[in-house]
Amino acid sequence: MPEIDRRSFTALAAGTAASFVLPARRSTLIQPENVVAPAVTPAASHTVSFDKYSLLVDGRRTALWSGEVHPFRLPSPSLWTDVLQKLRANGYNAISIYVNWSYHSPAAGVYDFTGVRDLGQFLGAAAQAGLFVTVRPGPYINAEVDAGGFPGWMTTSSGTARTNNSTYLAHADEWLTAVNAVIAPYQYTNGGGTVLLYQLENEYSAHLSDGVGSAYMAHLYAKVRADGITVPLFHNDKGRNGDWVPGSFSTNGESGRYLYAFDGYPSPSSTPPDWGYFGSGGKTGGSTASPNTPGFEAEFGGGWFDCWGGAEFSGQGYAGARASRDAVYERRFYLTNLANGIKLQNVYMTFGGTSWGWLPAPVVYTSYDYGAALDEARNQTSKLVPMKQIGLMLESVPDLGKLDKAASVSASNSSVKVYHLSNPDTGAHFYFLRNDSSSTISSVTLPVTTSGGALTVPASGGMRFPGKDMKVLAAGIKLGRRSVLYSTAQPMYQATIGGQDVAVLTGRSGDPVEIMLTASATPTVTVLSGSATSSFSASSHRLRVNTTLSGIVRVLINFGDGAAPLLLLFADDAASATLWRQPTAAGPVLVRGPALLRAAQSSGSAVQLTGDTTAASDLEVWAPAAVTSATWNGALVATSVTSSGSLLASSKLAGPPSVPLPALTGWRFATENPESASGFDDSGWRAANKTSSASITPVPSGQPVLFADDYGFHYGDVWYRGHYSGASGATSVSLSYSSGTQGMLMAWLDGMPLGTHRQPVPTSSQANTQTWTATATFPIPSGLRGSGAHVLSVLVRPMAHSEDGGANDAHKSARGLTAVTFAGATPSVGWRIQGGSVTADSVRGPLNTGGLYGERNGWHLPTFADSAWQSVSLPRSDTFQGVRWYRTSFTFAPPQGVDASVGLSLSDTSSRSYRAQIFLNGWNLGQYINNVGPQHTFVLPNGILRANATNVLALAVLADGTTPAGPGTVALTLLGNAAGGVPISNV
Ligand code: GAL
Repeated sequence: MPEIDRRSFTALAAGTAASFVLPARRSTLIQPENVVAPAVTPAASHTVSFDKYSLLVDGRRTALWSGEVHPFRLPSPSLWTDVLQKLRANGYNAISIYVNWSYHSPAAGVYDFTGVRDLGQFLGAAAQAGLFVTVRPGPYINAEVDAGGFPGWMTTSSGTARTNNSTYLAHADEWLTAVNAVIAPYQYTNGGGTVLLYQLENEYSAHLSDGVGSAYMAHLYAKVRADGITVPLFHNDKGRNGDWVPGSFSTNGESGRYLYAFDGYPSPSSTPPDWGYFGSGGKTGGSTASPNTPGFEAEFGGGWFDCWGGAEFSGQGYAGARASRDAVYERRFYLTNLANGIKLQNVYMTFGGTSWGWLPAPVVYTSYDYGAALDEARNQTSKLVPMKQIGLMLESVPDLGKLDKAASVSASNSSVKVYHLSNPDTGAHFYFLRNDSSSTISSVTLPVTTSGGALTVPASGGMRFPGKDMKVLAAGIKLGRRSVLYSTAQPMYQATIGGQDVAVLTGRSGDPVEIMLTASATPTVTVLSGSATSSFSASSHRLRVNTTLSGIVRVLINFGDGAAPLLLLFADDAASATLWRQPTAAGPVLVRGPALLRAAQSSGSAVQLTGDTTAASDLEVWAPAAVTSATWNGALVATSVTSSGSLLASSKLAGPPSVPLPALTGWRFATENPESASGFDDSGWRAANKTSSASITPVPSGQPVLFADDYGFHYGDVWYRGHYSGASGATSVSLSYSSGTQGMLMAWLDGMPLGTHRQPVPTSSQANTQTWTATATFPIPSGLRGSGAHVLSVLVRPMAHSEDGGANDAHKSARGLTAVTFAGATPSVGWRIQGGSVTADSVRGPLNTGGLYGERNGWHLPTFADSAWQSVSLPRSDTFQGVRWYRTSFTFAPPQGVDASVGLSLSDTSSRSYRAQIFLNGWNLGQYINNVGPQHTFVLPNGILRANATNVLALAVLADGTTPAGPGTVALTLLGNAAGGVPISNV
């Protein structure tokens, strides 16, 4: 077809009988009956309710297709927008977030929701991105964060957490008052935002029948309502126990405003579980525990977390999680959930992010990448493709919102499991088909109920199923205004755009697929690209189209009835990844080509598109009929009109230019730990002389309380100095300590190194061990045994507090030294203690800064003057016990308009026993343990990483003195590169 412009194309189309004839422009759009996403600018108020099938938003069915994201795991507010836009573009209509109490509260009564902790900004960005939000502020969250989200200061409170103890409830109420004041204005119910649901507690599986738990839950319910939270509330049942279903605790006389939800992390090698319509039923059957509320998985595994040493994924790190919970896993498990009537599905995690600073619970290291669909460097992985296919299907096929179990049917091959459901209102039937064998099965047929009666499907050939894969066969749905008897290709998208109906159908490359449509007159079928066949039966009014999925096969059907034609786009997985839909005021656009379409705006004859490319890409746009030109990221794109009724860019969009990264040179170096010297002045330190503690660790008899938390030191390293005399017989000293995973201590006597102890690397069976205790015994050198004054200096890296998953105050297990005894003497030791301040850095927050000498003196901060430090170059190889610092600065200058995601990679001979805390511009971005791993690359989020400015990098290196220590190689690495991105404000 010769190039024509779009206006004349539309005119031509309206006036000729060509096979691609488009009707005159239609002003009305076919809107799906269900609510697919919140209004970008929320209206004044909305109702949010539910029945047994789904949520009802303003009375309309809404399936929640949600991804878990933690604002506190991405400390750069500009990037929140990037992540949220990527999720919305990929078909999610919701996110779920934990709010981490400890992140916002350095001290009792002190709450901070500013800067990286600006929850309101996050909720505003979610509304702007068009995503509903489920908010989960605890008070307890678990979430693989320090103390499961309880603030450090709560470790010294006597009230038993997660009970109706009045001291604890006062703390919880203080938090809820503060956080609910931020959340309440963003509720969809009052029109200020898109908060749709709110979770009370998390996996609360204790005190189920002693009255304590029900009193606690009732208290939370009443408190949250009193704080002005009006959206439906729910609890997340740990697994499927039927705990805290509606009616199990008092809701103050309110009914129908509380949902039951549960979570699950099935092994990816298992057969996907039936946790709803097709399962065992009853209290422990998943959604069957609560028959009058919709199936709701508050968390379903999108990956899993990894422990220090990497035993969970055999050292592969999160690549291992992505390999075992891949796109096929997602289809199998998530479609099985949908088949089981689970209409609210939240994938944990969808963007895992970074447990920066001292956020990580003992069970994880810095990266919380989780194997998530959107990776820590904000790259879209192949795991987003099925999510987009299913999310857009839920938007486009409203019949899926209300499904009942239908008569059981069998496929021609018994290895294909069939879930048959139907919509009682529309008569649509759905067959969720899963190949439970590991091999590809071909030539499968299925008896299908259609509006035209029972048919064996497909009519031609058979369906093909790769091993373990799953897909949806739909019968009796509508694509645009056309009735579909059935389609063996999974519906992905449909809309009326530019005067034609456009439908996308998808599946695996190489799948033979068939669609049967109703046609009252003889249709004209034009294959615009790829190969496809069709046949029409005038007697039955059925039009059949067959093709084999490969790239995009385009078939235009003019039904000869004067109404709009239907453009079918059969897209295999790879092609479907390049298709994007976005709403505009003039109707939706469908775009093919770029790596991401963030947003579209249509005014008059122009459509303005913003998005990303990661390589040179096509740009093809199906746009409202008035549109004759397109811009991409603000620049006009020359286009021509295609036979598909789209605008196609005459040349490809450019990919990103390469991003130069500077080598890290010019290092400066300083030694540390003056605290180990006998003459160090510790008179300003706190005396560690308490005699009782709220810790669940007993205070050993004859010892003062040495637990760091009792002296207000909750995060990072802690120093002790013990003064004693009269111990001439002492031959050794034994230091008992308690820490999270990979805790360690180092000791000096009168400035002489005594040695180091490090907790063992967890085996896979120890991956969930959170508190580790050990006693390190060091011989006292004969020269230091005199009866005079001695000083014992001990540095403890306590790592994190245990989570309190069992509601047994596990977060109050001691951290730091617990007891110190001598062999051959019993001197009385006067202890002083020093650690990190939780309030010193209100910008970076309570979890940023520990108690190393350098941290206490600002060596990690960009403003610190290190010009007097010694110049060195890396790699280094030093044998020492103690702490040394390395600092350098560099300029990061990405080309304009490029979203470069940068990491810091460290590597060295793996036997070298040392660790490094990484500070970028003062932000504590993680802990590297050279001889443990598995993490070697740390994401440096843009905004903390400053573009076109000087960045200061500091490494605090702790070495145990048993081997030479580095740093070895330290380099910037490009983790992602896209032309596009979002504007970045420095943090
Ligand atoms: C769930 C819990 C989450 C998280 C997850 C594992 O059971 O609710 O907070 O810990 O397990 O990543």
